[in-house]
Amino acid sequence: GTGTVVVVGSINVDEVAEVERIPRPGETVLATASRRNVGGKGANQAVAARIVADDVAFIGRVGSDAHGDFLRRGLRDHGVDVEMLGAVDGCESGAAHITVADGDNTIVVVGGANRAWDRLDDSEAARVGAAAVVVCQLEIPPTVVDDAAAHTRGRFVLNAAPAGPVSAPTLRRCDPVIVNQHELAVLTGAEVDDVASVTDAATALRARGALSVVATLGANGAVWVTDDGSGHIPAPTVRVVDSTGAGDLFVGILAARLATGTPMDDAVTDAVAAASMSVGAVGTIDSYPARGDL
Ligand code: RIB
Ligand code: NA
Repeated sequence: GTGTVVVVGSINVDEVAEVERIPRPGETVLATASRRNVGGKGANQAVAARIVADDVAFIGRVGSDAHGDFLRRGLRDHGVDVEMLGAVDGCESGAAHITVADGDNTIVVVGGANRAWDRLDDSEAARVGAAAVVVCQLEIPPTVVDDAAAHTRGRFVLNAAPAGPVSAPTLRRCDPVIVNQHELAVLTGAEVDDVASVTDAATALRARGALSVVATLGANGAVWVTDDGSGHIPAPTVRVVDSTGAGDLFVGILAARLATGTPMDDAVTDAVAAASMSVGAVGTIDSYPARGDL
């Protein structure tokens, strides 16, 4: 297919260690469990979108190494079209070193091949142009994000994570830009700590050019701002076991719902529900709900 949803983004080998407590600087701790998974914000978002959408394609870069083969196979096994996942000669695949301790986590990303491109090639640009929804994050070079936004003819969704600047032309294409509270604070310079201040900051970000804004608030759900106004979707109370990748699940579900014309408030409601399910279970994409569970 041509890709109802096309994710242009990062893909990493996630090296996850479960620990009883996150070590302090200078401290050594022993892991209680470990695993190696397909990860990266872009790949996670593609897997999440595929829960809802039948036609999801991923555009990105791995290294020409064994990890690259592992990542390509893993993403394909999740039903994502990897025809445009390129391999960069002489480059390592991206990796993320993740520590998870009962509800808390730390992540260090080594960009590798994710950083080894600066624009889309012609066939990738054509694929982006044909998509209903294009999804980007900020783990790939900003020039690639700008290129993807410029080639989008459908709807452009940007998850501005990890926190960083967004060019003015790209911001004007975002419908929505999706941020957590920290990313919203970085983008606006505003202090945000509750639904009211988040709504104010999201409204200000929209006034700066974004077509719409969605801000996630963890246990407090999410806020959306569109030209129709704004709304707050609360989250159910859940015990947080492992929230790694829950934000990516939110983005993927939201993007896939928007691709079928679902109104923003309903799409955000579904994304909040899905993310709430995954934080209660150990793991990243392995804790994502199945289609029938939504
Ligand atoms: O958002 C979670 C993701 O961030 C992990 O899968 C890791 O690879 C990093 O990109
Ligand atoms: Na989880």
